Amino acid sequence: MTQHSLIKGPHIGLLGISLGADICLCMASFLKNVSATVSINGSGFITNKAIYYKENSVPQLGHDLRRVKVAFSGLLDIVDIRNDIVGGCENPCMIPIEKAQGPILFIVGQDDHNWRSEVYAQIASERLQAHGKEKPQIISYPGTGHYIEPPYFPMCPASLHTLLDKPVIWGGEPRAHSKAQVDAWKQILTFFTKHLGPFPKL
Ligand SMILES: *[C@@H]1O[C@H](CO)[C@@H](O)[C@H](O)[C@H]1NC(C)=O
Ligand SMILES: *[C@@H]1O[C@H](CO)[C@@H](O)[C@H](O)[C@H]1NC(C)=O
Repeated sequence: MTQHSLIKGPHIGLLGISLGADICLCMASFLKNVSATVSINGSGFITNKAIYYKENSVPQLGHDLRRVKVAFSGLLDIVDIRNDIVGGCENPCMIPIEKAQGPILFIVGQDDHNWRSEVYAQIASERLQAHGKEKPQIISYPGTGHYIEPPYFPMCPASLHTLLDKPVIWGGEPRAHSKAQVDAWKQILTFFTKHLGPFPKL
């Protein structure tokens, strides 16, 4: 990515949502030249499949499908299926985000039904501080679900979950969620401009 013709370099910013956010956190932790990372409703954990990179490995937190609930109309609610975070911010399934060179911005929806993004962001903050890093910025939106997408995208209340092969609810109340999407985008641009410099004119 640092070689790409549209990238100013030598440092890049990363933005990811859900599992993509956790992949960004791994990249920031294990790779060089990532100087700013935004995690939208990431977990900060390796949730489903252990990850290996060079000499690093992080085991998966795992889940128990017996904790799946039926919400309504046959839609599933998986918010409580992940295993407990034993040991808090020193849990071995946590991504070693203290290794990241640059700052991390956590954006979370308080009504996230994929996982408890807000709790996870707090644990990530504790981990960074336990390792002598600055307290990260966490922006938390009420009534907001899992998929905080760019402004004016319709809210996705439920969809097929590839892991379960069944439809699950993602949380969010349309009005609050839509407002969060508009605000989150501005916050993301401010964060990247601050840490990566002004956006080039295209
Ligand atoms: C990473 O950043 C350093 C400067 O901090 C630069 O010298 C190097 O070329 C960059 N690496 C890549 C792959 O862009
Ligand atoms: C994060 O997830 C929560 C719960 O699923 C959700 O309420 C919230 O809208 C999500 N936030 C974003 C920015 O996707």
